[in-house]
Amino acid sequence: MKKLWAGRFEKETDGLVERFTASIDFDRKLYEHDILGSIAHARMLAKTGIISKQEAAEIIRGLLEIKLEIEQGRFPFTVEYEDIHMHVEKRLFEKIGPVAGKLHTARSRNDQVALDMHLYVKQKISEVVGKIDELMKVLRKLAEENKDVIIPGYTHLQRAQPVTLALHFDAYYQMLRRDKERFCSAMKGADLMPLGACALAGTTLPIDRDYTRELLGFSEIYKNTMDAVSDRDFVIEFISCSAILMMHLSRLAEDLILWNTSEFDFIELDDSFATGSSIMPQKKNPDVLELIRGKAGRVFGNLMAVLTLMKGLPLSYNRDMQEDKEPLFDTVDTVISCLEVLPGLLSTIKIKRENMMKAVEDSFADATYYAEYLVKKGIPFRSAHEIVGKMVSYCIKKNKKLRELSLVELKNFSGLFGDDVLELSNKLDNVKNIKVI
Ligand code: ARG
Repeated sequence: MKKLWAGRFEKETDGLVERFTASIDFDRKLYEHDILGSIAHARMLAKTGIISKQEAAEIIRGLLEIKLEIEQGRFPFTVEYEDIHMHVEKRLFEKIGPVAGKLHTARSRNDQVALDMHLYVKQKISEVVGKIDELMKVLRKLAEENKDVIIPGYTHLQRAQPVTLALHFDAYYQMLRRDKERFCSAMKGADLMPLGACALAGTTLPIDRDYTRELLGFSEIYKNTMDAVSDRDFVIEFISCSAILMMHLSRLAEDLILWNTSEFDFIELDDSFATGSSIMPQKKNPDVLELIRGKAGRVFGNLMAVLTLMKGLPLSYNRDMQEDKEPLFDTVDTVISCLEVLPGLLSTIKIKRENMMKAVEDSFADATYYAEYLVKKGIPFRSAHEIVGKMVSYCIKKNKKLRELSLVELKNFSGLFGDDVLELSNKLDNVKNIKVI
């Protein structure tokens, strides 16, 4: 089949080359953005008198028909036409004849594909931010509902100090708030219009880039045409925001997986968000959370793939850059699916507050309160730390908790312990008054 660029070629392309270079299997995702960009480009060509209004109208009619064909699954895709840009243009010829050949005036696939990617990333940033918002709402609700639930806070995965469950959930809320801000700032790099840069050097034709910018809703135009076709920073930024987000979701998943074990027994996942084992009838597994943890690795890999892809490229466009699409699309699908599954999973977990409290009581999580009690009596913190450390060691030997020590026993460690030390047992209640949100 004759290629749109076949003028200087004397032989047909080898079938293996066609298959090897084709990106249509994955870049067909960009059809909507490609057609939107082409419509704006045709309108600009008409406005500047490069093509007639009549020609632009025909082109736009054809493009809209093609859009409908793709949406209704009636569009004939084939590797022979390489990518989505060629497919749309070839089809346009079939529909409206030679006037279709005017659409690609003052345009190259290099600025065209860059434009499609910008439009796509802008759209996906808004989508991801919307989904982050939904997850944040669930975390906020969980924090608000669990202000009086006390759990051991951990460092080194060892019980450290009592905290409220609200504080724990709010920590994730804060991470997501930062993620949202990061995605919003990534919008700046995506909100730049490359069209008009053509292959790399612009055009001698009297185009109006600002008009196309306005039609497509971009804030700015690339200042440098070579930069416009060779920049993929906005793709890298999107994936790197996603990698940080996934790192947070993976940590949340890990906390929930631990809490859901029989060893912790702090929560139970709802049946509708857990899975079973094919051999062990008793099993109820946290596969959803494990997959979120696992998928974080995929997104980190995607980031590394695109960074490595770009690092050695000379200016300006190189075909290597076609390889940016699969990591980007995979990142979008992964991030969105994780953000979509978490709200339901989180809002249906059963919180076992008694077990959480028991874990606090069984630990020496209140030791810091005793040290701070002595500090208030005038002892340097390091000495107070040492004294309470000895008390803990004593308690372990005697199989007692700190608050079970009598005043006589306490006074053996420091004469400064007085009757008011009993208030420390109420201290756990004060944890509930920690303001988190
Ligand atoms: N499919 C290509 C890509 O995704 C489109 C641009 C091709 N340009 C070219 N001059 N071969 O990067």
